[in-house]
Amino acid sequence: METAVAISLTLFILTGLCAGQGLFPQGSVNGAEGGTAMFITNLIPPAQPFIIISWTVGGANIITSTSDDSIGPGYGDRITLNKTTGSLELRNLTLADSGGYRVAITTATAETINGSTELVVYENISDANIKGPPNHLFADWSSANLTCEAAGNITTIQWTKEGQPLSAGGNILFSEENRKVSISPVKRHDSGEYVCKLTNPASSATASYRMIVNYGPESMTILGRHIAEVESFTLIYCSVQSVPPATFTWLFNGQQTGVHEAGYIIRSVSYNNSGDYRCDARNDLTGNVISVDHSLSVKGTGL
Ligand SMILES: *[C@@H]1O[C@H](CO)[C@@H](O)[C@H](O)[C@H]1NC(C)=O
Ligand SMILES: *[C@@H]1O[C@H](CO)[C@@H](O)[C@H](O)[C@H]1NC(C)=O
Ligand SMILES: *[C@@H]1O[C@H](CO)[C@@H](O)[C@H](O)[C@H]1NC(C)=O
Ligand SMILES: *[C@@H]1O[C@H](CO)[C@@H](O)[C@H](O)[C@H]1NC(C)=O
Ligand SMILES: *[C@@H]1O[C@H](CO)[C@@H](O)[C@H](O)[C@H]1NC(C)=O
Ligand SMILES: *[C@@H]1O[C@H](CO)[C@@H](O)[C@H](O)[C@H]1NC(C)=O
Ligand SMILES: *[C@@H]1O[C@H](CO)[C@@H](O)[C@H](O)[C@H]1NC(C)=O
Repeated sequence: METAVAISLTLFILTGLCAGQGLFPQGSVNGAEGGTAMFITNLIPPAQPFIIISWTVGGANIITSTSDDSIGPGYGDRITLNKTTGSLELRNLTLADSGGYRVAITTATAETINGSTELVVYENISDANIKGPPNHLFADWSSANLTCEAAGNITTIQWTKEGQPLSAGGNILFSEENRKVSISPVKRHDSGEYVCKLTNPASSATASYRMIVNYGPESMTILGRHIAEVESFTLIYCSVQSVPPATFTWLFNGQQTGVHEAGYIIRSVSYNNSGDYRCDARNDLTGNVISVDHSLSVKGTGL
């Protein structure tokens, strides 16, 4: 009874192995051009060494190992055979190494164990870059295409913006198998660092692009006192949202002051500083100018 179970188990295992099932994991072996592939069998090293181990690709000999080794042309310095497991290491891979690999092993008890697997060699991904829009972008007005380009075998492309996955929807559309992101129209919050990650089963590469969406100036406010004591320090500050940053011009009672900072500073106020101040903010790219007025009256101390 126990013997019968043992025999049928042995038969089952051998049948499975002869059909090439289970000797290698499911699926193909992936390698990078110039890299190394490992064909690892799941054989437990036997008590008595194997008599013959023969590896072939597409029917051509890679190595036939008996008492001595017969190695196929082009494999001499590229392979290492593990004679206790039949596992094979293949180095310095080229695209031409892709194909169907078979191993046939004859055990000390003259049984044949056959296995087969597939090697796919991928070109490394290189020269990744993102091609962005050639012109300046203006919020709510322009459209932008970002195109992820690279050399080599590419199987997937994923995008992130500021480290977060970028997803389609709203003004964002993916096309050409994720190679291209179209943003139409661009919004202010679309400014930022875009990264595309290209992968294949053997290598990956990334490229990044900083996109700037120009807008403004807008939401302008002036901060500062309306009444200042004579000889006090006074700051009137012009605040505005603008990309690129606005350039400022301060006018006093309609006259140019020569001040072009966001803050108009009077270190020691005089009576003749009373009057109307105007801040003009200009965005040199959008060409837009906006202005806000501010009145200041100077009073004597202790009044
Ligand atoms: C194993 O493969 C060889 C050829 O590679 C073939 O001659 C032999 O019949 C196969 N054996 C089994 C048990 O499938
Ligand atoms: C490809 O990438 C692998 C693994 O990163 C590396 O070993 C190999 O040298 C690269 N090949 C080329 C041609 O750059
Ligand atoms: C062959 O593979 C076995 C199991 O992975 C390992 O223990 C052994 O060291 C290997 N032999 C050689 C010569 O690499
Ligand atoms: C890998 O192969 C290339 C071309 O086949 C050869 O020029 C190069 O010397 C080889 N490198 C190694 C480390 O064997
Ligand atoms: C973006 O690419 C699409 C085609 O995918 C094209 O129709 C559109 O004109 C491009 N937009 C810009 C701003 O280049
Ligand atoms: C990789 O790209 C080359 C052409 O550049 C092609 O010949 C080869 O079949 C591709 N390999 C894979 C695994 O897609
Ligand atoms: C304002 O008065 C101060 C003296 O109090 C004087 O130095 C300054 O030149 C005056 N400025 C203008 C614009 O008249």
